[in-house]
Amino acid sequence: MTETWMRLTRPEDMDAIVALNDAAFRGKEEGAITRRLHADGDSLLSLIAHRNEEIVGHIEFFRILIDGQPSAVGLGPMSVKPGVQGQGIGAGLVRMGLIPLSARAETIVFVLGHPDYYPKFGFSAEAAAPFTAPWSGPAFMVKVINPGAPEAGELTYPAAFG
Ligand SMILES: CC(C)(COP(=O)(O)OP(=O)(O)OC[C@H]1O[C@@H](n2cnc3c(N)ncnc32)[C@H](O)[C@@H]1OP(=O)(O)O)[C@@H](O)C(=O)NCCC(=O)NCCS
Repeated sequence: MTETWMRLTRPEDMDAIVALNDAAFRGKEEGAITRRLHADGDSLLSLIAHRNEEIVGHIEFFRILIDGQPSAVGLGPMSVKPGVQGQGIGAGLVRMGLIPLSARAETIVFVLGHPDYYPKFGFSAEAAAPFTAPWSGPAFMVKVINPGAPEAGELTYPAAFG
């Protein structure tokens, strides 16, 4: 059986990460966002999953401002290679990423994603409702990871999100 490992993203991984995002999302938008987040210095934490030397999964975390203060984290883009999806790689990346963020005393993580996928990690659309963002609805979710998290406010995303 091929083992899956995870590690921090390195600069030389970027082309493979963009190609992975393009394949998983069947489009160029998420790969471009990822490249821009890194180019702008707006990536907080970036992880990849690999099997042998092939990158098969990627997750990005970035800074979100709440009412102008750097008090929140965003999750995304996130992708797993078509063909190896549904094997727990995505779940591993989410859980692996939340550990150092919690240890760094980050309090709150937002995601815009599949409403049926992220609740299993404790993300909630209901809890995100008091926050103002460029998006809303069931795909806009939040998870509190430490005490003292803001309970409402206006979110500002990095320039990579347009
Ligand atoms: C979404 C994605 C990152 C999940 O990664 P993964 O490794 O396939 O997921 P896991 O193996 O950890 O989890 C599989 C579980 O999630 C579910 N799942 C996978 N994709 C899902 C989706 N789009 N919506 C709802 N559930 C989904 C599976 O049914 C499975 O459920 P189970 O645990 O009850 O059996 C991956 O499928 C992917 O890259 N998709 C295309 C790009 C994308 O949509 N990225 C996320 C944007 S928010």
